[in-house]
Order: sequence, then C-alpha cells, then structure tokens
Amino acid sequence: MSQEFLPDLLLAWYARQGRDLPWRHTRDPYAILVAEVMLQQTQVERVVPRYREFLACFPSLEALAAASRAEVIRAWAPLGYNLRAVRLHALAQQAVQEFGGHLPADPQALRRLKGLGPYTAAAVACFAFDLPVPVVDTNVRRVLARALLGEVDARHLPPRQVAALAAQALPAGRAYDWNQALMDLGATVCTALQPACARCPLERLCLARPQMERWQAARSMRERPADYRVNSPFQGSSRYYRGRIVDALRAVAEGASLDLLALGRAIKPDFEAAELPWLLDLVQRLERDGLVRVLADRVMLA
Ligand code: ADE
Repeated sequence: MSQEFLPDLLLAWYARQGRDLPWRHTRDPYAILVAEVMLQQTQVERVVPRYREFLACFPSLEALAAASRAEVIRAWAPLGYNLRAVRLHALAQQAVQEFGGHLPADPQALRRLKGLGPYTAAAVACFAFDLPVPVVDTNVRRVLARALLGEVDARHLPPRQVAALAAQALPAGRAYDWNQALMDLGATVCTALQPACARCPLERLCLARPQMERWQAARSMRERPADYRVNSPFQGSSRYYRGRIVDALRAVAEGASLDLLALGRAIKPDFEAAELPWLLDLVQRLERDGLVRVLADRVMLA
C-alpha cells in the first residue's frame, strides 16, 4: 500500500481507539502545560489523577504563581521528580510578570520562559493553539522512524533528521489529532519493547515491519530488561531517597520541620547516626535545588 495513505489510516485509528485523556478535553494553555510537564517523566495512568488534583488546587497560572513553593511541592510530590514542581512554579511567576498570565501561542515566545524546552513549547503551541507544529517525544520519534524510515530502533537517529521528518509528515489541518495519535500509537501499539504489529493500523505500509520479528528476537538475546529501566527510581539510589525526603516532609504539618535524625528514620528504617553526613549531603543538594530549607539540624519544605 502506498505511504500516502498513512495519515488517513492513523487518524481513522485514533478516532476509534484514541485514549480519552483529561488534557484532551481542554484548550487551556496552562492546563496543557501542566499535563505536558507531568507527562515528561511519568506514565499517563499515574498522571491522570494528579493532573486533576493539581488543577483543582491551582486552577490558573495566576493561582499557581501566587501559591507558596511549599504548597506547590506538596501538591506535586506524589508524582516524584519534584524539581519539576519548583520549575513550573517559577515559570508561572515569570509568565504572570512577562505575559500578564496568558501564555503566548508562538513556540519561540514560549521558550523565553525559563525551563520551557522545545518539546513543551511545541506541545502547548499545537494542543492549546492548534498551531501546525510537530510534537516529538520518544514515542513519536520511534513511530515515525519505524513507519517512514524503516529504522526499528530510533535511539541513534540525529535529532535534526527526526525534526525534519516530523515536519514533513505533518498532515495539513490535522496537527492536533496527528500528534496525539502518534503518541497513542507509540504508547499502546508501537512500543519500544513489545511492538504489537498485528494490531497496528500502519502494518501494511510500515517500512520497518519486515524486520520487526528478527529485530525482536536479536534484541531479547542481547539486552536485559534492566537496560530500559531509565525512569524507575530504584531503592538505594539518591533519586529514591530524595523522593523519600520530600514525602517525609510533606507528611509533617505545614510549616513544621524535622530534625535530621528523625528525617533519617522516616526515610530509612535502619538509619544510623553514622549516616548523618550522607543525609546532610542529600538535603543540602535538595536545598540548592530549591525543594527544602535546612536550618541548623532541622529540615522543612522550601
Ligand atoms: N505524553 C506526552 N504528552 C502526551 C499527551 N498529550 N497525550 C498522551 N501522552 C502524552
């Protein structure tokens, strides 16, 4: 089948099988920004309830900008990767100052906001303002590389090549659905580890299809699943303990602090005084990132 039918096939599939996700029911640029920041390091299923809760607490850029940093971290912390909350809060304050609380549509203007990268700028421009720009995350890159280039594994492709391919592939007038559809296909069918080609609407014209089985067999011999655990904070890593520290501080009353020993015991049942220098180093790093405050030997949310 000719590749010219690819957009029709994908869009028809999306109309039937696209996921019903809360950020697809809004064009509010702020809500879309929140969703996209949450989705950058967290899976859709975990984001959905937190997205609703966060927007209930902070329904607008102004509301977020006016909140204290500790309130924002508190609302965010169940998601982890809490630095995102600090950055989003600062970004809201900058947007209120510079744009009067209205996010601009133009990706270049959006990028003037500190910490708002090219991916998020494109997502807000397309999903809130319907601008015809490609929105390329890992899933989209993989789907485009497989279907249009015959590259089974997109990880080695130069970003420029992927950007050009994505821009060229964008169907006129359908950027919103196209970008969301690519994300859904990449997340549910054309996955990195277990692509389900038999269920794929693009199976008959995907350029990588002929190699998929051979590639999967070779990959399962070569790679252990652990190589893909990039986003799972495993027990024992400093990322894991950073998250535990913020969780422990959220659990105390607002404005209250914990001394280092109590904090150590809260995050690690076998914590010993000999580990205090390790803990102090962790909380000082969290303090430099703006997440906590350290006052003598006591720690609280920033
Ligand atoms: N991941 C990142 N952005 C997304 C979106 N808009 N829908 C589903 N998954 C996503």
